[in-house]
Amino acid sequence: MLNKLMGKEKPAEEDELNEIEPEEENIPKHIAVIMDGNGRWAKKRGLPRVAGHREGMNAIRRMVRLADRTGVEVLTLYAFSTENWKRPKTEVEFLMRLPERFLNAELPELIEKNVRVRVTGEIETLPEYTQRAVKKAAEETSGNTGMILNFALNYGSRSEIIESVKTIYKKVESGEVAFTEIDEGLLSKHLMTAELRDPDLLIRTSGEIRLSNFMLWQLAYAEFWFTDVLWPDFDEKDFNEAVRVYQQRQRRYGGV
Ligand code: FPP
Repeated sequence: MLNKLMGKEKPAEEDELNEIEPEEENIPKHIAVIMDGNGRWAKKRGLPRVAGHREGMNAIRRMVRLADRTGVEVLTLYAFSTENWKRPKTEVEFLMRLPERFLNAELPELIEKNVRVRVTGEIETLPEYTQRAVKKAAEETSGNTGMILNFALNYGSRSEIIESVKTIYKKVESGEVAFTEIDEGLLSKHLMTAELRDPDLLIRTSGEIRLSNFMLWQLAYAEFWFTDVLWPDFDEKDFNEAVRVYQQRQRRYGGV
């Protein structure tokens, strides 16, 4: 549907084309993903919503392997937003258990692949078991030098920006930072993503075309790619298409 709406009728041989791996040069260094459509995936099958999240976790495993193999440097996955607390308690509890389940199973492979796990978000307010799982993974992979797997967990971009403004204000007040030093670079350094480069490519699944309070500052110059595919179904073919579309885009950063 989305492809039709956007005037992108696909050729019959499209599936074949999407088997083609992306070119080796010009791989997006940072890919950020809004993993949407788990609930609809489950509903289509007459399953409870949490079944969609469980399958979504398998799609994460697939995505991590693909991104790592392709040479992506940072993969950010929007796993839980500050707005997601509004969901039914049982669903929230299920979602909060997933990092633990995922990392218990995947940590050995992530370590073997030299992947570094980190989190962007307000983790202090997460349940103890969720915090423990992500902290353990971050600690055990802190020396790794390969791909960074960044989970956006209890993350909201507006509150992140407000927090950074407050910190800068305090530093100006105390004289640590001069008012005239406030610029884009300084604000970026006060975000939770300070150590990461900005995303080059944003992927959102399930046909929704919005940012949902995700990395509003960091995505300023990213290329966006939307697909109707529901997150649990997102596979290698979709990944290849997203990267190949990115590779065909011309990034001008406001220039000509
Ligand atoms: C959006 O789909 C998805 C989420 C809010 C949760 C995403 C979480 C995962 C993919 C699993 C997390 C796993 C780990 C390891 C952190 P939705 O539920 O809003 O779907 P809908 O729009 O179809 O209802």
